Order: sequence, then C-alpha cells, then structure tokens
Amino acid sequence: MLDFTAVVPSIPYILKGIGITLQIVVGATILGLVLGVLLALCKIGKITILRLLADFYTSIFRGTPLVLQLMLIYYAIPQLFDIQIDPMPAAILAFGLNSGAYISEIIRGGINAVDKGQLEASLALGIPYTKMMKDIILPQAMKNIMPALMNEFITLNKESAIVTVIGALDIMRRAVVVGGSNYHYLEALIVAGVIYYIMTLILTFLGKMLEKRMRRSD
Ligand code: ARG
Repeated sequence: MLDFTAVVPSIPYILKGIGITLQIVVGATILGLVLGVLLALCKIGKITILRLLADFYTSIFRGTPLVLQLMLIYYAIPQLFDIQIDPMPAAILAFGLNSGAYISEIIRGGINAVDKGQLEASLALGIPYTKMMKDIILPQAMKNIMPALMNEFITLNKESAIVTVIGALDIMRRAVVVGGSNYHYLEALIVAGVIYYIMTLILTFLGKMLEKRMRRSD
C-alpha cells in the first residue's frame, strides 16, 4: 500500500537534492554553451578540417549513451591520470561535453534558418562579415535558437538524474537512499518525480516568457 507518512520526514532531505541538481545543470549549461558556440562556428566556417572535427565531435557525443560518457569520465580519468575526480565535477564535465554537441547543432540550425536574402543583401551592401554576423544574422538567429536552447536546458535537468550511477547526491539519488532506508521506494520515487515535474513546469514557463519577450520586436 502507498504510505506517504513513511517518507514525509525525509522530504527535506530529498529537496536538498535540488541544489545539487541545479549546480550540475547550470555548470553543464555554461560549459555546453561555450563549447556549442565554438563548435557551431567551426561548423559554419570555411576551414574544412575544423568543420570535420566539429562534426566528428558531435557524432561521437550524440552517438553514444550519456550514461556511458558519464561513467567513462568518472572511472577512466582516475585510471589514466592517477587523479581522483569527485562525482560533481565529473558530472558537470560529462553533461557539459555532451550538451555542447547538441547546442552546437541548435546554433548551427538557428543561423542557417535565417533567410538567405539577409546574407545576400549584407554582402551586396558591402557590410563586413563580423559586423553582418553580429548585427544582422545573429539577432535573427537568436529567435530560432532560444526555444530550442530552453528545451535543451529542460532535457539536461531531467537527464541529470543519471548522476545517481556515480553517487552524486542529487534529487534522484536521495530518493533512492530514502527508499532503501525504509523500503518505501515507491513513495520516495514519487516525491522525486513530483519535484522534477515541478522544475520542468517552471523552466517551461520561463522559456515561454523569454520567447514572448523576444517576439516583441516582430
Ligand atoms: N538519453 C540520451 C542519451 O543517453 C540523452 C542525451 C542528452 N541529451 C541532450 N540533449 N543533451 O544519449
């Protein structure tokens, strides 16, 4: 039977995982954004070798499971370099590297979706490349990029639950710990699910607000 009274005293403990989850997500997003922008620049640039490398990077990180990448970083780094890595930095690194691959595609797609005529007009007017990118193409691309970026943020927030395999004390791990201590796994997991769901709703709402704001100039 469902008996939530058994997990109620542990709810504050599970809630504390929100901080850990957010740390991972925010850290990974920053790393992913920097990487994503760099990779996207390589992909739309004219230097073939950079383009190939960026495509290769993306194909590896999108073509293998995130949980595998996470465990590789957590277990392989100590084995190869003889240094200890804590679950948190390992998680931020793994999620950031992974997200960079997805974000680079979001940015590349957003830039490519800007009407070709904009580029042709700028070239015809003799506007220099960087100025054209900064003042004409990128502001328009941002409108395509923002919603997808928000989506990536939400995905990352949920996917972060797999850090439980390397023992970071996020929401998910805490729910499992509570379940294991009193054998009320079901209730503890439901609590975790509700927390993730509310976080998703909040992020979705923030994304909608942001989108509306960016539409204002249309
Ligand atoms: N479950 C997918 C995987 O293991 C998720 C990848 C992460 N997705 C993302 N948008 N960063 O490959």
